[in-house]
Amino acid sequence: MNTADFIFNTDEYHIDEAHYTWRTPSNIALVKYWGKSDPQLPKNASISFTLNNCHTTTSIRFSKTAAKEEAQFELFFEGEKKEDFKPKIAKFFKRIQEYCPYVLQYDMHIESSNSFPHSSGIASSASGMSAIAMCLMNLEQALNPEISADYLKQKASFLARLGSGSASRSIEGPLVVWGTHEAVAGSSDLFGVRLPNAVHPVFEDYQDCILLVDKGEKQVSSTVGHNLMFNHPFAERRFEQANDNLAELLQVLASGDLEKFISIVESEALTLHAMMLTSEPYFILMKPNTLEIIQRIWEFRKTTGSHVCFTLDAGANVHVLYPKSEKQQVESFINTELLKFCQKNQYICDNTGLGAQTI
Ligand code: DP6
Repeated sequence: MNTADFIFNTDEYHIDEAHYTWRTPSNIALVKYWGKSDPQLPKNASISFTLNNCHTTTSIRFSKTAAKEEAQFELFFEGEKKEDFKPKIAKFFKRIQEYCPYVLQYDMHIESSNSFPHSSGIASSASGMSAIAMCLMNLEQALNPEISADYLKQKASFLARLGSGSASRSIEGPLVVWGTHEAVAGSSDLFGVRLPNAVHPVFEDYQDCILLVDKGEKQVSSTVGHNLMFNHPFAERRFEQANDNLAELLQVLASGDLEKFISIVESEALTLHAMMLTSEPYFILMKPNTLEIIQRIWEFRKTTGSHVCFTLDAGANVHVLYPKSEKQQVESFINTELLKFCQKNQYICDNTGLGAQTI
């Protein structure tokens, strides 16, 4: 597939009104995407667990209108009109209009809400952009019923990627790879694919308890963060390392080797932050409590033999990962030893999910 395959080229807009609602989840990367080139193409392949409880629900009402120069839409977030969210969405529509010219033929009334607190540090751009992409693809399918279910998902991921790179990994689940990688058949820089390789049952229902250490606005947006990888002294080596880590992780995902899983996933998280520590300008996004939690997880693992581990995204929150068989033991450890390091004791227990769902 190349970009030309994603251009919708029919001039017939026989639908006057349509209304679609999709719920799409956030995801947590195991091998991280950090560094991109224009237009939103990753410098290395990444893989994530699709989440289940952390999701965005978005409805779009499409009303046919005379063709416009730019997409016309109104945006409501959790019941309120949100003018400050509009520029990002307007930019997204501009980016995708060559692939979805119908966005210029319909007025769009968008209503969206999250199952998790906004600005909690949970990637709302991944769930938000993928939900819009699914609604658009529903309209596209109504306009052109010939498109296949596979094409619909692929193009939804392609569009979501143009909104936010990691959003390309939120259409399916439980494991999605985005970025061309020789060990993953069908993988592409243009869209995410559900991991086609063998997966050990332990990874089909993995647990992710997100500890909300710092719910403040991010000090560095991910777009700014990605740009720091230009001229970064370690960038090229990092991109190679991520691809190597993904190759190794694929074997681990097939064999169920939890010790190796832990070492790759934790190293990826710390390397992501190491990139921020060593960029120009540099950032420390972890907080003292992030480090406290990591220390406690290491101690707990050492004394109990548990397979709990952590990962981080571009912020201070900690994603605590563990197999379902250890749920009771790890959740009691979280309650007694880790919650005190969270802002207002807040956390969200999640698990892997299967991706976008129509409502
Ligand atoms: C650290 O997808 O949020 O979470 O493409 O600029 O929207 P943009 O960035 P975004 O970056 C996510 C970075 C990360 C790692 C990951 O999810 O792979």
